[in-house]
Amino acid sequence: MQAVRERLTVAVRARSVSNPDHIQIRPASSTVRVVLPPELASARSDNQRSSWEWTYDHVFGGESSQEKIFDETVAPVVDAVLRGYNGTVLCFGQTGSGKTYTHTGSMSQFAQRGVAPRAIARVFSHAASQPQYETLVTASYLEIYNDTLVDLLTELPGPGPESLSLVDCESSTTVRGLRAVAVADEAAALEVLFTGERRRSVSCHQLNDRSSRGHAVFTLSMEFRSRVESSGRVTRAKLVFVDLAGSERLKKTQTSGCLRGESVYINQSLTHLDQVVVAAAVSRGHVPYRRSKLTHLLRDAIGGNSKTLLIANMSGQAAHLEETIATLEFAARARAV
Ligand SMILES: Nc1ncnc2c1ncn2[C@@H]1O[C@H](COP(=O)(O)OP(=O)(O)OP(=O)(O)O)[C@@H](O)[C@H]1O
Ligand SMILES: [Mg+2]
Repeated sequence: MQAVRERLTVAVRARSVSNPDHIQIRPASSTVRVVLPPELASARSDNQRSSWEWTYDHVFGGESSQEKIFDETVAPVVDAVLRGYNGTVLCFGQTGSGKTYTHTGSMSQFAQRGVAPRAIARVFSHAASQPQYETLVTASYLEIYNDTLVDLLTELPGPGPESLSLVDCESSTTVRGLRAVAVADEAAALEVLFTGERRRSVSCHQLNDRSSRGHAVFTLSMEFRSRVESSGRVTRAKLVFVDLAGSERLKKTQTSGCLRGESVYINQSLTHLDQVVVAAAVSRGHVPYRRSKLTHLLRDAIGGNSKTLLIANMSGQAAHLEETIATLEFAARARAV
């Protein structure tokens, strides 16, 4: 089914707020207000400006549960996918702000599970309620590490390892050589998600002791075959979860050696993502998707027919006000796409 393009949906999630004088999270009006303290305001080159207010589709404070985030933002995307649309959920934000917590959450505490495991449960409970359709699901899990594509599922049974490459197909981009594992039920899909999760590149730095060092892309591909229509009509849809590595300031994370090299790749690809979002928002002309693997892969999510939800995670701590403003500005630009 061909989707009708609608604006990208943007949700902001604050991990916790340390000082309401400077950061005000207002879920009722879906707004976030930031007021700089005088010492930061005078240090900015645009020191005319010391306060901002942005409006999004959803705004969540630190008290919002994993369940609430899923029900109000991701569940509608899953439901669209179950109707035959492609859907993408992107977690974006500063290092340590809660992207992986939002995406995967806890692998041991059920109530703390993130949006990807909850989406898996929703897909299979829908399949069970629709006996007139045969639902076939495959899962794949990819990491973009230092601008290289890595299959996180190579230890699972399937065809042998092959070098991965991006291939353009109509409006979307697929990854040639990536393992797609057939998953018959929720437990099998969770097993694939957690297997890939354990294989992701993570490191410890000053702001996060399990910091993601690559962008992770978990995809559920679905096929719905009618058991009642004689034509055996087939609908295909894809649900993609992207847990981005966090933007970071080397001074704050105190990274050095190979971690520093990773940071350069992470920051560069996020800059490209921002450029692509700006280009997609302002023009119908050329959008430089091919500038990095991340943006090439996200072509459909940003400028194609995918139902896309961006969850912008922010720390909410006064010590990270500048990064928070950068995250909120990116989220506002994305909302214009
Ligand atoms: N809303 C939240 N409630 C409780 N704990 C949280 C929340 N958000 C994040 N955390 C915890 O904060 C820590 C850092 O979060 P997380 O690893 O998700 O950050 P991240 O944005 O993925 O960072 P990075 O870019 O470095 O990968 C983790 O221990 C996580 O469990
Ligand atoms: Mg992370």
